[in-house]
Amino acid sequence: MSYARIIGTGSAVPERVLTNHDLEAMIDTSDEWIRSRTGIERRHIAATGETTADLGECAARAALAAAGVKPQELDMIIVGTTTPDLVFPNVGILIQERIGANGCAAFSCEAACAGFLYALSVAEKFIRLGEARRVLVIGAETLSRFVDWTDRSTCVLFADGAGAVVLAPSEETGILKTHLYADGRYKDLLYFPSGVSKGFDSLKSGKDFVQMRGNEVFRIAVRELSRAAVRILDEAGIPGSDLDWMVPHQANLRIIEAISKRIELPMERVVVTIQEHGNTSAASVPLALDVAVRDGRIQRGQSLLLEAFGGGFTWGAALLRF
Ligand code: ACO
Repeated sequence: MSYARIIGTGSAVPERVLTNHDLEAMIDTSDEWIRSRTGIERRHIAATGETTADLGECAARAALAAAGVKPQELDMIIVGTTTPDLVFPNVGILIQERIGANGCAAFSCEAACAGFLYALSVAEKFIRLGEARRVLVIGAETLSRFVDWTDRSTCVLFADGAGAVVLAPSEETGILKTHLYADGRYKDLLYFPSGVSKGFDSLKSGKDFVQMRGNEVFRIAVRELSRAAVRILDEAGIPGSDLDWMVPHQANLRIIEAISKRIELPMERVVVTIQEHGNTSAASVPLALDVAVRDGRIQRGQSLLLEAFGGGFTWGAALLRF
């Protein structure tokens, strides 16, 4: 059987860094509170005019270079994002045109923080079915655009960035399994209140920002991500303690620690970049993956568990050999 395998990774973050101390000067918060409750120390924020496609393009170019794949060889581009440049054309098409991959399929996957995992799962199926040979999967966000910078309960969390992988068919083991989930009963716990069809009336009420009931999100994220991690490992017959690495969604260090404890994987084998990047939503997993590949922690042939959780709720897990 042929697998879909990651043959290159890339990432990009905006130049501007916003530290917890910078936030202390803007809102009633403290470095100590943010570090101890979330694990975040600093984050990258897009410059005026810098967009999701800009960051996605940089990550895509880096992943293509690492994979040794020319843009013209791509059969498909899928972008996980909740912060597209435009309603349409989708971010995948904007990136396709910039890198010169014209003609290949290109679309976005809108599943909040789980967007990259949804995109990866779709890409994997095309490759395994033999309908695509080179697929670029990107997670890219400019969340700083939809945050209320006076709301201390959300603005300390979210940030900007992008990560990308190139997938190709391989006889060697690659992606073993992906599991995707969604539960709309929780739609009111984390959402953005306006849109093209519903309208932008909330602008007038000053509520045109991400809305989150953090405590409840936290509780359900721990429960569902733990269940998802256990289920995918059980199905594959791999004990969590045998994994080489978990590359989790970087939303809250305490969520990550709870999952690592649940699957009995020591934190030394968990990739944590939240201190540098904050929560970059769909970008968070591929960004963390690329950091750990480039600094040499993740090596070829190692077993990885990826997982993410976001608004909707949407969540998912992927088990693979790198
Ligand atoms: N600085 C200082 N104090 C703060 C801040 C802040 N930035 N934010 C909130 N507080 C205060 C609150 O007002 C509250 O004060 P009170 O006790 O006087 O009322 C106190 O701190 C505790 O607030 P909680 O909300 O209970 O704090 P908690 O420990 O739950 O941490 C947090 C909040 C970090 C948001 C946490 O709940 C969390 O991470 N939730 C999950 C978020 C998440 O995972 N999202 C994932 C999906 S994201 C996506 O899809 C885009």
